[in-house]
Amino acid sequence: MSNFEPEIVAFCCHYCAYTAADMAGTRRISYPSNVKIIRVPCTGKVDAIHLMKALEKGADGVYVAGCLEGDCHFKNGNIRAAAHVEKIKKTLEDLGWEPERVAMMNFSAAMGEKFAQAAEEFTEKIKALGPSPASQATSQAV
Ligand code: FES
Repeated sequence: MSNFEPEIVAFCCHYCAYTAADMAGTRRISYPSNVKIIRVPCTGKVDAIHLMKALEKGADGVYVAGCLEGDCHFKNGNIRAAAHVEKIKKTLEDLGWEPERVAMMNFSAAMGEKFAQAAEEFTEKIKALGPSPASQATSQAV
């Protein structure tokens, strides 16, 4: 399983996390191409169903990246998102999946380097876990 390359979906809020990712790109700080970014107006718009759908559709790991706590441009969207992430972690545990496949992260727009580092660390963590149970089930069915 050493050549396993995970599919990772990152829901990034437009104001901070997405800008941090953009800054990483501008400064030529690379992060794994495994991470596919979905830009959202605010992480408060990311519901538990979006996280579950991403996993169901083949993502091996999913994270939500929002503004720093207290800095959400829509007041408390990132707090809401963190609650959804916690809910999904519990659901995954109940299903016998590793809850580490889902995470909440917070960045300011200036944290390009930290964004890239977190993307790298999350990718390594998912690589160590291996393919998600959903993608394993799909590959066995084919
Ligand atoms: Fe960034 Fe709400 S605007 S998390």
